[in-house]
Amino acid sequence: MRDATPQQDQTVYLKDYAPVPVTVTHVDLRFRLAPMATVVSARLTCKRQGSGNMVLNGEMLTLKGISIDGETLNADAYATTDTTLTLYDVPDAFTLETEVEIAPQANKALSGLYMSGGMYCTQCEAEGFRRITYMLDRPDVMATYDVTITSDLPVLLSNGDESSRGKWHDPWPKPTYLFALVAGDLVATSDSFTTSEGRDVVLNVWVRPGDETRTEYAMDSLKRSMEWDERVYGRAYDLSVFNIVAVDDFNMGAMENKGLNIFNSKYVLASSDTATDADFANIERIVAHEYFHNWTGNRITCRDWFQLCLKEGLTVFRDQQFSQDERGFATQRIGDVLSLRARQFREDAGPLAHPVRPESFVEINNFYTATIYEKGAELIGMLHRIVGSEGYSKGCALYFERHDGDAATIEDWLACFEEATGRDLTQFKLWYTQAGTPRLIVTEHFNDGTYRIDLEQIVPDTPGQTGKKPMPIPIAFGLLDRDGMEIRKTEVHVLTDRTDSLSFDLSERPVLSILRGFSAPVILELERSDADRLTLLAHDTDPFNRWEAGRVLAKDRLMHAITEDANFDDAWLDAVAKLATDAFADPAFRALALALPSQDDMAQSLHTAGIVPDPDRIYAVRRAAQLAIATRLQAELPQLRIAMATPGPYDPKAQDAGKRALAGKLLGFQTFLDGGAAARAAYDAADNMTDRMAAFVCLLDAGDPDIAARFEEEWRHDRLVMDKWFMAQIANTPPRDAVHLADDLTRHDDFDASNPNRFRALIGGLTAGNPAGFHNPNGKGYEFLADWLLYLDKSNPQMTARLSTAFDGWKRYDADRQDLMRAQLERMAATPDLSRDLSEMLDRMLK
Ligand code: ARG
Ligand code: ZN
Repeated sequence: MRDATPQQDQTVYLKDYAPVPVTVTHVDLRFRLAPMATVVSARLTCKRQGSGNMVLNGEMLTLKGISIDGETLNADAYATTDTTLTLYDVPDAFTLETEVEIAPQANKALSGLYMSGGMYCTQCEAEGFRRITYMLDRPDVMATYDVTITSDLPVLLSNGDESSRGKWHDPWPKPTYLFALVAGDLVATSDSFTTSEGRDVVLNVWVRPGDETRTEYAMDSLKRSMEWDERVYGRAYDLSVFNIVAVDDFNMGAMENKGLNIFNSKYVLASSDTATDADFANIERIVAHEYFHNWTGNRITCRDWFQLCLKEGLTVFRDQQFSQDERGFATQRIGDVLSLRARQFREDAGPLAHPVRPESFVEINNFYTATIYEKGAELIGMLHRIVGSEGYSKGCALYFERHDGDAATIEDWLACFEEATGRDLTQFKLWYTQAGTPRLIVTEHFNDGTYRIDLEQIVPDTPGQTGKKPMPIPIAFGLLDRDGMEIRKTEVHVLTDRTDSLSFDLSERPVLSILRGFSAPVILELERSDADRLTLLAHDTDPFNRWEAGRVLAKDRLMHAITEDANFDDAWLDAVAKLATDAFADPAFRALALALPSQDDMAQSLHTAGIVPDPDRIYAVRRAAQLAIATRLQAELPQLRIAMATPGPYDPKAQDAGKRALAGKLLGFQTFLDGGAAARAAYDAADNMTDRMAAFVCLLDAGDPDIAARFEEEWRHDRLVMDKWFMAQIANTPPRDAVHLADDLTRHDDFDASNPNRFRALIGGLTAGNPAGFHNPNGKGYEFLADWLLYLDKSNPQMTARLSTAFDGWKRYDADRQDLMRAQLERMAATPDLSRDLSEMLDRMLK
């Protein structure tokens, strides 16, 4: 064999994109499954389309045989490294055959072919296929597939349609990352769906025996998603079977493999007994998300991984639209914005900030981020607002028609909207290339019958990017009079320059409702009176802005209490009480409005305001605010809780979920007053996991000495419920005990670091669930996290890199904490043999 120089870990650049010189048009795969010695025979139909050698990807493969057109290759016709197979001087058209051996049982990275609870499964996005066989493992190489699986296991699945046991054919050309294989002892819940094109589709949800009682909601969500995509986007399903498989060990939420979606079991299995309302909502959203990928991702895929937002931003936007239709616009939008601010704004404000379409990466798995997904979805939302509903429909229709079967780019996507609407989207494209959350500074002026709003945008510097250009910001706004009557309905002004003004002839100064529905992902800065905010909270016709007004009031109170020891004033507490007791308002909305900004949200806001956040102080002030609200509501609480009862059997529908959400909030306040008496009764009476968890969290918070053991006793047998047990305890213990408890729990019999859900529950319980505990000034939280990251990095780099983002806010804090965090980041960075995943993250955070 010839020598090939091994490739170093390298930065990949968008500007270097070039098509492959030799492509693959058909893949024929044969698997003989065995845990430690699976044999994969591949026959690739190859075709030259440019000049140069053919370089295939392959990792952790033992090559057993290689031939071209039936002739075994001479040693000088090819070369391998740890990550490549190079073929020299290949003909214009040929068949490459390879045989490799792999060990799925030893694969703890959960990328490629691996085993979970005795079943074989795959995760190929982004670059896992190269751990299965030698192939051009990149999204612009699209091939049809034939797959033959040999195994004694009863259920053998792959993409496409099954012709006989274990033999699958997928007629739709697809990139490697959409390949999937599953083999195991599984049972299906089955149903069917007839598409608008008259195709009969068999729907299966495959789970381990015993779990089939918990598949109903996933199946129901799937059928509603299929119907919705036909009705709203005109997209129908295109195979005769659609399979979903639940897997216990899975790094992410789920994966849209063609015709064979593989899910983290957490996002499939649900019964009223074991899943909360939030779990049900996540299942609905993720089932929809993966199904919607069939068109936005699979039929039209990405040319390269820099275009990841092309499928993810769009598909998140689509699943958000779906959830709004299923669950109500306002509450869904508020939830999505809360998540955007908590995850994406945080990312955008720190060392990991990157554009929605990045220009370079070292490890692509590190770019499955809130920026690509959630900000990516906001960009579609803004495009929708700018071109209007009709323009949006036309643009989408053109995109589906023109690019069906393509591996496309953001430029392709935008060109469809330019052509369909006649608009120039050159400036809009800056949203894809410039990182950072813009600040929108608004000032109001009223003078002699003229009301003027001055607008200014500032796009902040981010790592590697300075001196940014203004971007088009769609600003939806309306005007109210002093009594709260709407005097101008919503209109959209697109701010394209750095500054702009709007003027109105009015006899009286109005109340401005701006950025309605959160029409752009920006930080709004607008100084104004409490009176205006209270007017909006009580009267705005835009429910998002009603909520937002309450949010700003609360945040303002917390800020003052943190920085100036201010008390919580009656005017605010009265407004909160009014909302809590407003029987005409939607319970789900009231629950959202009663939730105070999170500890991390406060840390982020203080930092933005130039104040160093003190996690202990934030924790204490938030609790004081909760106590103040509880005290103000004391007389009403029992009645309010009774009014939120949901008689009859548990129903996951949004209406009941909203009542339970409010009841849970109220129980939290009650616990501040009665030390857990009501929560104990609620725990005993709970007949569903939502109510039980709400009571459990209250009792943990109240320091009930027995409740953790009781919960464990009752739920020890259930992995998904026990994840909640691990997380809730750590999140709801006093900060000074949090690290100690987390450390203790790592020695619990049921702690299993190799299971991503369990690991995330424990680590996330501390870093996200108990920030004041994580940031304990003794530095033990940082050390604990770093120790575990170093441990997990040896087996599962992807998970490790993800969880390392808990450190990404380190520069917000005081000098002592910064030193402690930097020391841990540097200790990790100095450790030999780090994964590419973790070392890229550490590099970026330390820069
Ligand atoms: N495409 C999947 C989704 O729906 C995410 C898979 C990411 N997996 C990974 N290993 N990076 O959103
Ligand atoms: Zn996705």
